[in-house]
Amino acid sequence: MVSDIEISEEELQELEEELKKFEESKSHKAEQPKREKVEKEVKVYTKTPGLTRVSTGILELDEALEGGVPKGSWVAITGEPGTGKSILCIHFAWAGLKAGDPIVYVTTEAEFRDVVRQAKIFGMDFEQFNIYDISSSREPSETPSIVVIDIFGLLKIARQMSESISLDVESTRKRRFAALDIQTLTVAIHEAYKVLGVLKEGGKTPIKHVRLIIDSLSAFWADKPAMARKYSYELKIATHRENVTAYLVSQYAMTTKSTFGFGLEHIADGVIHLWMDDVETKKEVIRYMIIKKMRLTNHAKHAFRVEIVPGKGVVLTPVK
Ligand SMILES: Nc1ncnc2c1ncn2[C@@H]1O[C@H](COP(=O)(O)OP(=O)(O)O)[C@@H](O)[C@H]1O
Ligand SMILES: [Mg+2]
Repeated sequence: MVSDIEISEEELQELEEELKKFEESKSHKAEQPKREKVEKEVKVYTKTPGLTRVSTGILELDEALEGGVPKGSWVAITGEPGTGKSILCIHFAWAGLKAGDPIVYVTTEAEFRDVVRQAKIFGMDFEQFNIYDISSSREPSETPSIVVIDIFGLLKIARQMSESISLDVESTRKRRFAALDIQTLTVAIHEAYKVLGVLKEGGKTPIKHVRLIIDSLSAFWADKPAMARKYSYELKIATHRENVTAYLVSQYAMTTKSTFGFGLEHIADGVIHLWMDDVETKKEVIRYMIIKKMRLTNHAKHAFRVEIVPGKGVVLTPVK
């Protein structure tokens, strides 16, 4: 079913309040890291009791996060072009495939074929797993491990939504959905959950842990950056569940030096930021990463040098 989610300013405020309360209750429930760990700066793989960790697929990053991203987190991956955001997503997906987590992979930047090709160079063979493209005209033969939503998949869903809305709604409310509408994305993700078999009959909440990757979310408000906050909220409310751990890529606008999606950083449980030294001064590409924020956990506060190595992918070394 397709729902026309239009949210007014007042409703948005109410939802914000609700979301805040929900987040607060979550942090009360989770155990706080022990005092000595806070002071020492985490170097060892330690787990906070009562908190399930989700591996990032990068050993050094897992260590820097006391074992991984807290389950159910929404993690914004921010940075300029070429800093390694998409490769970070590939690692996160690969770790999920190995762990048996169903995966929803939204890619607006490249065709998934290119993602698979890129992954292979780093020693991650996605083709060992059952991949289902939502734009496919055939039903999946068996439950896939990963459902791909690329621009063609979004276009297909947008068309279906436009048709079904036009059928039963008065002409004044008729609207056409675009591939890069946040509502289209929401419906597409819900479809993907269905294909992955993680929803109960008629339900909206995955009953199994799912990894959601959106590369990139900024694409959905590229022509209207002022809407970033509202759209992020809409998406979070429609999609965020305890059983969904998400990576959301946000492009960094080089010209303004601000993210196209400051709204996203605002609602994210975690922010991993990537950047590079000024290439004109250094005459070299030198990349860095820092965990700017991660709720419910202690994390390394220093930056890392990011190397992208064939056969391995991202390799991190601490910058002290
Ligand atoms: N096989 C490879 N070996 C080494 N570096 C690579 C390889 N493939 C890609 N890279 C590096 O990764 C960069 C792209 O990373 P990517 O995650 O796509 O960036 P972003 O998504 O932030 O724009 C390329 O510019 C290149 O420097
Ligand atoms: Mg990218």
